[in-house]
Amino acid sequence: MRNIGVIGAGHVGLVTAACFAKLEHNVICADNDSQKIEKIKNLDMPFYEPGLEEIVKETIRNKKLILTTSVSELTEKSDIIFIAVGTPSTPDGSADLSYVENVTIEIARALTEMKKIFDNKIYRLIVEKSTVPVLTGEWVKKTLELMSPTEIEFDVAANPEFLREGSAINDFLEPDRIIIGVGSEKAKRIFEELYAPIKAPIVFTDVKSAEIIKHASNSFLALKISYINAISQICEKVGADVEKVAEGMGYDKRIGKDFLKAGVGWGGSCFPKDVAAFIKMGEDIGYPFNLLKEVQKINKEQRLLVIKKAKELLWNLRGKEISILGLSFKPNTDDIRDAPSIEIISLLLKEGAILKCYDPKAMENMKKIFPDILYCQTPYECVKNSSLLIFLTEWDEFKNIDFEKIKEIMKTPYIIDGRNFLDRDKLKKTGFIYKGIGRN
Ligand SMILES: NC(=O)c1ccc[n+]([C@@H]2O[C@H](COP(=O)([O-])OP(=O)(O)OC[C@H]3O[C@@H](n4cnc5c(N)ncnc54)[C@H](O)[C@@H]3O)[C@@H](O)[C@H]2O)c1
Repeated sequence: MRNIGVIGAGHVGLVTAACFAKLEHNVICADNDSQKIEKIKNLDMPFYEPGLEEIVKETIRNKKLILTTSVSELTEKSDIIFIAVGTPSTPDGSADLSYVENVTIEIARALTEMKKIFDNKIYRLIVEKSTVPVLTGEWVKKTLELMSPTEIEFDVAANPEFLREGSAINDFLEPDRIIIGVGSEKAKRIFEELYAPIKAPIVFTDVKSAEIIKHASNSFLALKISYINAISQICEKVGADVEKVAEGMGYDKRIGKDFLKAGVGWGGSCFPKDVAAFIKMGEDIGYPFNLLKEVQKINKEQRLLVIKKAKELLWNLRGKEISILGLSFKPNTDDIRDAPSIEIISLLLKEGAILKCYDPKAMENMKKIFPDILYCQTPYECVKNSSLLIFLTEWDEFKNIDFEKIKEIMKTPYIIDGRNFLDRDKLKKTGFIYKGIGRN
């Protein structure tokens, strides 16, 4: 069993820490947000992720997982240190690496202090778990070399994370693949041992290639969604059905069915910032990634499409009550970072619409951005007297709604299905005027 440290108790860090603890390692997880650490210590999760709470509770109780606000305590207690802090977008699109830099400096300082106390040889494996632009590993290494004594032996590795919020635990424990960028045999052996219980192919590579794999993968997935969304626009213009087009394409094994879902576009904590960072990275090294700029543009258009459809149905939006079901950027999470709902709500408010919203988990987060719109306790309360109902997240709960009842209590039976997930034919039979994306 290894002593593992995870810096950052966010969606990636806390899941990583809890899962390694579940695999019987001794794990310490640090975050500089003391309120968050207190909350977790009190077995209260700082965000919603299915299955996480149980594992955190179990591993805290059996002392496999401990929480701290001190990176130096973590550095002292761990042989392997995962950096899982945020790498948000800056205004020019590049990733803000100041959090990664800060924790690197903190680790270096802690190692320097340790060297004064312990005479024996110290080795640490420092691992980038955060999504970072290529060459970040070199900066981490340089910073550690510069700021800590030469006697300390360390390796810097990249082990990008591919978990998806909403299925994070399963994705961590049963991933499609594990990517490890390493520069030494010693580090490679540690990873082989660490990930032995997880049955997944491991791709060992150099640190730079591992960093690029993460950005290239996320941008490719965003591209695939934007591609089908572009097709959806063509379908709308000629009266074809994008769902059928996607089905027909998806059976081709070279294409595959996943991520061919037309809708209001991609959002969330990763795709928008990672696509922007990849474009900026390309610019910095002399490659203008125009393909990805178009991917971004198509995504923006999908959000505007909702407003266009709302106007087609209601003519003027000013003073009309519109209900929105689903706020999180995807189901099974309360995360609203860069969710399409944020831009769509802003645009509807600009048009003068009166908004009522409901989401099973994300309302508390949305209240921080839009404190003045109405938040409802149930979908039925949300749609009462509304002129239009817009679905922006495909929560399972919404599939079981009693649409007969919804039709009775709405002012006019208009639905925009921003995720193409509802039974269109049934809704039409019930008497709704239905508008999907790329299908009518
Ligand atoms: N969320 C996802 O689905 C996902 C998936 C794969 C990869 N990633 C990547 O993983 C990284 C983390 O993402 P996240 O969603 O977990 O972010 P998050 O914002 O949920 O968590 C980051 C945490 O780091 C903490 N932190 C910041 N500076 C710190 C410091 N100096 N010391 C200790 N803690 C510090 C913050 O307080 C926060 O709790 C990002 O690079 C992201 O792109 C995210």
